[in-house]
Amino acid sequence: MTESIAEQRAARVRATVRPEVQAVRGYPVTPPWSGIKIELMEDNHLDRGNDTAATLALRDALGRALADAAFHRYPDPAAPALKAKLRERLGIAAHHGILLGAGSDEVITMVSQAIIAGGGTVLSLEPSFAVFRNAALASAGRYVGVALRPDFTLDLPATLAAIEREQPKLIWVVYPNNPTGNSYADADIEAIVRAAPGLVVIDEAYEPFAGRSWASRLDEFPNVLVMRTLSKIGLAGVRLGYLFGAAAWIDEIDKVRGPFNVGVLQQVAATVLLDHYDELKRHAAAMIAERERTAAALRALPGVTVFPSNANFLLVRFPDAAAVFAALKAHGILVRNLSALHPLMANTLRISIGTAAEMDALTAALKQTLAAP
Ligand SMILES: Cc1ncc(COP(=O)(O)O)c(C=O)c1O
Repeated sequence: MTESIAEQRAARVRATVRPEVQAVRGYPVTPPWSGIKIELMEDNHLDRGNDTAATLALRDALGRALADAAFHRYPDPAAPALKAKLRERLGIAAHHGILLGAGSDEVITMVSQAIIAGGGTVLSLEPSFAVFRNAALASAGRYVGVALRPDFTLDLPATLAAIEREQPKLIWVVYPNNPTGNSYADADIEAIVRAAPGLVVIDEAYEPFAGRSWASRLDEFPNVLVMRTLSKIGLAGVRLGYLFGAAAWIDEIDKVRGPFNVGVLQQVAATVLLDHYDELKRHAAAMIAERERTAAALRALPGVTVFPSNANFLLVRFPDAAAVFAALKAHGILVRNLSALHPLMANTLRISIGTAAEMDALTAALKQTLAAP
């Protein structure tokens, strides 16, 4: 019997696409959600229903700037206005280079391509952000994960042993870590940096909520860069991530960047929104307060473990996370079930911090769920 076109195509794909790419599991993205969405660490204060005079002013400025933007022209990849604004608002030193990406996801891809492609090992602590592994495998690199301790602190002897054994050219350290929420001890990170034979990138995606950063220490070491994103501070849909540090590193990694990777509208939107950074920081401050209030409320519930968090989410362990996830969904509340991500994550849900009203709804729904027989 002759094979159908679909069968022939499937066989051709299997024979042609690199096996390590075929083995990659795509990053799971949930379809749009109309209820309370506390899943991906977005700034829910920017939902239309929560508008204030300040957010309306921000929208107004954004609308005017986008209408004026030269969207018919290719973007200037040097992005001078945006980079100047990043330096001014986020304290990036004048002598440090900045590499922009369409979200830090793209920055992770570029770093992986520049450093690991064609061989070499990347190391990350686990559980952590899944994109490090996928980007390493897509760049034909080897990926090595080193498990954290069960309380999610860094296992320094195991990490140093893995560095010695594997000689990774690239190490990712997430500070504070996603999905666990904690920040590793600075002395442990320093020991990793000193032991690393290649580059260490400190991923500070959650820096606005942690108030701690390695940015001020970059010049102490020959092999450290800091990566951040504007996603967690209100701009997830804009897609703007950045890597900064010594130009000797940044200039090399920049060579694998697509020539026009950050579009005109992204650049304009990010520049305007950084003018309103104080308002976005107020939202972050509200989320920090909500995080602590919600953590205290959840800790009072039976059988619940709330892990300490420096980020805009809480990792929470339940007796039966899948049942709680389903019950919350039935209440119209979407969180993230990461129980299958890693053995250390068994029975955990990651809950982003939303507005006070949303966190009240979450606590009420959990009280009801956990009290049910
Ligand atoms: C630790 C960490 N790094 C990077 C990212 C990617 O962020 P983005 O691509 O939106 O900049 C995330 C997103 O959740 C993250 O948690």
